Amino acid sequence: MKDMPKIEEIKRIEQQATQNLSKISDIDKIDEWRIQYMGRNGQLTKVLRGLGQLEVDDRRIVGATANQVKTSLENEMEKHQLKLENYKINQQIHNDQIDVTLPGRPTTQGNMHPITKTIREISEVFIAMGFSVEEGPEIELAKYNFDMLNIPDNHPAKDMWDTLWIDTPSSKNKHSMCLRTHTSPMQARIMESNDPPIRVLVPGKAFRYEATDATHEWHFHQIEGLAIDKGITFANLKGTLFEFAKRMFGDNRQVRFRCDFFPFVEPGVDMSIDCFKCEGDGCKICSETGWIEILGAGMVHPAVLANVGYDAAKYTGFAFGMGVERICMLKHGIEDIRLFYSNDLRFLKQF
Ligand code: PHE
Repeated sequence: MKDMPKIEEIKRIEQQATQNLSKISDIDKIDEWRIQYMGRNGQLTKVLRGLGQLEVDDRRIVGATANQVKTSLENEMEKHQLKLENYKINQQIHNDQIDVTLPGRPTTQGNMHPITKTIREISEVFIAMGFSVEEGPEIELAKYNFDMLNIPDNHPAKDMWDTLWIDTPSSKNKHSMCLRTHTSPMQARIMESNDPPIRVLVPGKAFRYEATDATHEWHFHQIEGLAIDKGITFANLKGTLFEFAKRMFGDNRQVRFRCDFFPFVEPGVDMSIDCFKCEGDGCKICSETGWIEILGAGMVHPAVLANVGYDAAKYTGFAFGMGVERICMLKHGIEDIRLFYSNDLRFLKQF
């Protein structure tokens, strides 16, 4: 080792730098110190730059030493910086510039969206009655959204749902995919891959090609229900939905069933509850009728049972579908469906 002097120089720089660092009491001066030793023209940097003039073996040893020292100085610098910062804070506390007895600032907590809450609330009611909960695809095959549900092409009933098609009319001349217009396609999917008995609830998004106004959104939520077993009758449908109405809208609720048409049920009905606001006297919420329609339902059509390979002579069942936004609006007296999706925190925070 011919170049001991170099090593000695490095050690000397290190010693001096460490000493000087420990004398710094002003945090802003630390950077000056760094520049003096490790800046572009710093003392240590110069040594490193001069390595080229050394012989190969020496260069390795001196280089390694210089780099070690550099890392160690950088660590010392960080430590010292931290020490000065802590010292500064302690001084501030000491001089009463920081009042540690002040209560902390509260952080705001998010809350669940009213629609999510309503879905959970409705689900609880049916879970208590033995239903399980499943979800399905929002992009759906026309096969499940329509065909399997006894809604044939060119049948006027297909116009009941204004559909957002995903594919353009192609050579096949028939749409094959859409954004599901209701949660009913899950009836077919669930029956197709399960044997009875079935008791399932399907919450989820549905989409329709519709102009938006106070009571219509092109995107909304539905909850589908399906029960299939031997010997299920319309009385089971009534009993189940009556129980739901009471748990959701109050023990004194009355329900009313009227004939309605959906291709996948026979008979089909719509269910109303007596107005929980005016108790049936007539008010704004019930449009002066005393009744509020809350869902569509019916006995699963034998053609639908046949489509999924069930023996319609052996099994019967009921299905129902309700709009979540509508139920939430009724419960909370919300007058415009668009409020749910306009991201106004003043509205959303109320729930
Ligand atoms: N899917 C129907 C709709 O969206 C509602 C419904 C579901 C009716 C199940 C009957 C049975 O209009």
